Amino acid sequence: MSKPNAIDPNSRLADAQARYSTGAIVLHWLLALAMAFQVAVGFAMPHSGPYSFAPMQLHKSVGIAILLLTLVRLAWRIFRRPPAAVETGWTALAAKIVHWAFYAVLVLGPVTGWIIVSTASLHVPTVLFGVLPWPHLPVPAALNEPMEEVHEALAWIAIGLFVLHVAGALRHQFLLRDPVIARIAPAGSVAAAMALLVATIAIYFAVGSYVAQTYLVPAMADFRAMRAREQAPPAPAPTPAAGPSDEATSTPEPAASATVEAGPPPEWTIAGGRRLAFSVANGGSRVAGRFTDWNGAVTMDPDHPESADIRIGIKLASATVGDATRDAMLRGADFLASSSNRTATWRSTKVTRTGPGRYHASGTLTIRGRSRPQAIAFTLTGKDRERHVAGSATIDRTAFGIGTGEAGESLGTTVALEFSFDATAKAR
Ligand code: HEM
Ligand code: HEM
Repeated sequence: MSKPNAIDPNSRLADAQARYSTGAIVLHWLLALAMAFQVAVGFAMPHSGPYSFAPMQLHKSVGIAILLLTLVRLAWRIFRRPPAAVETGWTALAAKIVHWAFYAVLVLGPVTGWIIVSTASLHVPTVLFGVLPWPHLPVPAALNEPMEEVHEALAWIAIGLFVLHVAGALRHQFLLRDPVIARIAPAGSVAAAMALLVATIAIYFAVGSYVAQTYLVPAMADFRAMRAREQAPPAPAPTPAAGPSDEATSTPEPAASATVEAGPPPEWTIAGGRRLAFSVANGGSRVAGRFTDWNGAVTMDPDHPESADIRIGIKLASATVGDATRDAMLRGADFLASSSNRTATWRSTKVTRTGPGRYHASGTLTIRGRSRPQAIAFTLTGKDRERHVAGSATIDRTAFGIGTGEAGESLGTTVALEFSFDATAKAR
């Protein structure tokens, strides 16, 4: 096939003036900006620990969006052919190689990233932009490390291609003085394309420095503090402070042995104002959440708490920290395994009054089939048949096998629980 543009200067000019379709232009610049963002987040984010969570979710979301946009771009390319090449010879070949290498990176970058998260030993679900659950690939775990190498190499290749690609475009604009940039510029405006070039580079540096400052710097400070703690001489054993969990190891007395002095204790209905919140140290910060679905049966005479019988049931699947990805993780096998063991239960064994309106209750907590002694402290306010209950407990999550292994590495071992509710005495 002859190449008229190689011999006929008018036809070459016509080719140079031909433009990419609007869809191709929009996708070109969307992908350019997204790639700058993506590579910057990738290099600047911590790769593990509590500070990696938010930027990693964003990185995964934008990365999959890049994959989908690239597939759209390639499909578009089939139906709306690009304008004929302006050049011939080795520069034309170089341009072609760079373009196809870009497409390869745009597909293989996300695919290798997807394989990394699918094979990671820490199972973090992928929920795109916090709303769309994204499946993981059924690929062998042995791929994890090699894919990490390839993934990083692809990012460097993308940077190299960017330099060559932009140099080629600028050569056309300023040395050859042909309107190639206008072919891919919004509304044919070279100024707009230049602004987008500057925006691409600016996004890379601005996003990179923001992510590094917000996540990498505190993650490294945490890491240094942890190393310093490890190297410090061991501190003297702390004097145990009196707290709700202290009695956890004492032998519980059966409630039946208590003397009932004033007739049967009243039964209470757990009414409004219901709140059951938890929090746990996570690196230098805390993760806080709550259970939205729980209930209980309370039989207790506030003046004679010895005869109390309190039973609480908590739907583990109702645990939420207000973030779809972390919630999915919380309900997964590494934490609450809430699909298989649905309810956590606590039942009092002995309730004593420790001051006016203040109580201490020993009891048994059962989670994931494991039962352990667990004390709680609570206060009662209000009077007669309308009371308000507020209390707390400190739970050793490791006793229940919650968050073991890599999943719980950065988490504190004790989980602070706080609850409150209104209680109404049932009419006898
Ligand atoms: C990471 C950023 C970028 C990526 C991934 C990228 C990717 C691509 C790809 C794959 C093509 C080929 C389109 C096709 O024919 O299918 C292309 C064309 C083009 N790009 Fe980019 N690009 C990026 C940034 C830029 C920048 C910043 C400029 C501006 C200076 C630019 C200027 C051009 C031009 C002028 C063409 C058309 C070349 C021609 O008409 O033969 N690109 N780009
Ligand atoms: C074109 C798209 C993508 C680009 C350019 C990109 C770029 C990067 C870069 C530059 C890094 C840092 C590499 C290092 O310093 O070791 C990185 C790490 C990472 N990326 Fe991507 N990424 C893309 C898509 C994805 C996707 C779609 C996912 C997952 C669904 C993903 C998951 C990861 C993971 C898990 C890491 C950390 C790997 C490690 O611990 O070494 N990436 N990415």
